[in-house]
Amino acid sequence: VPIREGRFEEPVGGAFARINPSISFDRRLFREDIAGSIAYARALGRLGVVSAREESAIVEGLRSIELEIGAGTFPFREEDEDIHMNIERRLLEKIGQAAAKLHTGRSRNEQIVLDERLYLFGVVDTLRDGLRALCKALANKAGENLTVVFPSYTHLRQAQLISLAHLFLAYVHALLRDVQRLEDFEKRLKVLPLGSGAAAGSSIGVDRELLMRELGFLSISRNSIDAVSTRDFIAEFEFVCTSIMVTLSRVAEDLIIYSSDEFGFLSLPDSLTTTSSLMPQKKNPDSLELVRGKSARVIGHLMALFTLMKGLPYAYDRDLQEDKEGLFDAVDTVLACVDVTAEVIEGLAVNRERVASALAAAGGFVYATDLADYLVLKGLPFREAHRTVGTIVRAAVEKNRPLERFSLEELRSFSPLIGKDVYGVFEPLRSVNSHDVPGGTAIGRIEEEMARIEKELG
Ligand code: ARG
Repeated sequence: VPIREGRFEEPVGGAFARINPSISFDRRLFREDIAGSIAYARALGRLGVVSAREESAIVEGLRSIELEIGAGTFPFREEDEDIHMNIERRLLEKIGQAAAKLHTGRSRNEQIVLDERLYLFGVVDTLRDGLRALCKALANKAGENLTVVFPSYTHLRQAQLISLAHLFLAYVHALLRDVQRLEDFEKRLKVLPLGSGAAAGSSIGVDRELLMRELGFLSISRNSIDAVSTRDFIAEFEFVCTSIMVTLSRVAEDLIIYSSDEFGFLSLPDSLTTTSSLMPQKKNPDSLELVRGKSARVIGHLMALFTLMKGLPYAYDRDLQEDKEGLFDAVDTVLACVDVTAEVIEGLAVNRERVASALAAAGGFVYATDLADYLVLKGLPFREAHRTVGTIVRAAVEKNRPLERFSLEELRSFSPLIGKDVYGVFEPLRSVNSHDVPGGTAIGRIEEEMARIEKELG
């Protein structure tokens, strides 16, 4: 290996050789590493560090290496440690001495962080597309179920009636904020580190503006020490992954509950469920359980990265090699889980009769707040209305009788303000439509919101 021969007599040895190489995982960055080296060769050509012939030999050599790696024929070597040295060594084999000039004024410390940033360019686009597709699936489900009256839950107890669409759109809003986070993240991601050298900045006056344009960055780093030291862009990306996974985990939890035997409000398609090796009746929601379970590892990667960084002296430290496996796993996990969740949503069936009969069986208590609002409209201060309805509910529980089956006489014994029109309160869509504010569950408001979301999703 070219870089050890001068300084050392021995190769890396012992158990250290087991943890030293990163090639088993950083080979994933080969396209980015090659793109960075091609741009760098061009910049060296401008400077006259390499001749025009050497420049094109390097560029062609790198392109053929990219093909080799893509085809799976590249001879990776653990002794070469990482993707940077593997490619450099191969380039030397292929084109000879011109390859030895490619690393002039460059350090692997800037190379690795360049590769990681470039890698995330593509990932951010893919993730954003996946999130948009998931949001579209949710918005479609919302549209199909606009007039399905569903209980909302607080403390996992029936609260007030909503349109089922309102719940699906709640998920959409959480995910749209993550799309926004990714968009905002791009201006901090697309900062070119190349030209920072090992820590102090390039010593050959490389044209960083040229490199920035060639590689699709938006700006150049303003401090070389910061450029090779920081992994906050990875932490920020992993935060967004974590935020997405926590939302998906909560969506999964909702759907698991609502599709359970006891609720039966929703059914999952067979293709996204499994059965038991013992109990033949089981239809288990494993797709959703795995999405919920996988959120744990993504949260873990974010914590691991901050833990990795917190004690590191400026500038580069080899500890930073440990940032990559968590990042790659976070990317793979979040991309898969976004797609799985979209498939679940597309295949979800709503059992409207089950929802309706569950509401009918609930004794009308989901209308308790509506009844208090009714009394308020009749002039009672809310706190008194709250107490009055509480007393009615207590009587209903004692008599084991739904609220709407109380006679007018009985109801009037609790409050003389109650009139015959009280029975209009116990009407599902009326209840839903009474929440007629921006952001509320009234059908008209949801329709307006759906139109806005559709526009945002393009
Ligand atoms: N494999 C290293 C990493 O992942 C690449 C940078 C190595 N730099 C160095 N000075 N050893 O961080």
